[in-house]
Amino acid sequence: MDAYRRHVLVCTGNYCSPDRQGRVLYSQLAALLQRENLLFGPERVKRSETPCLGVCAGGPIVAVYPEGIWYGGVTPALLERIVVEHLRDGQIIDEAVFHRLGG
Ligand code: FES
Repeated sequence: MDAYRRHVLVCTGNYCSPDRQGRVLYSQLAALLQRENLLFGPERVKRSETPCLGVCAGGPIVAVYPEGIWYGGVTPALLERIVVEHLRDGQIIDEAVFHRLGG
């Protein structure tokens, strides 16, 4: 089994995105990871959903580790950019970051 390169947490709680958009993104993420060949190999990504990240506003929220990058207001279009630019190509999307763990 390949080790994971990154771990992505999608908040699917109802407070940061009351329209349940987090759940939509979580489903979309699975298809995007498959499309970009990120389910296996050296850039393998683990996808998880969480009921709350303790922010509860400005969502949907997507957190990427080990960089500790938290993206807010994630739309389906932004999620696609996160997968392609950050997870596949290693480029953080600075303008969409609202918090950096430890930074
Ligand atoms: S419900 Fe998403 S951060 Fe709390």
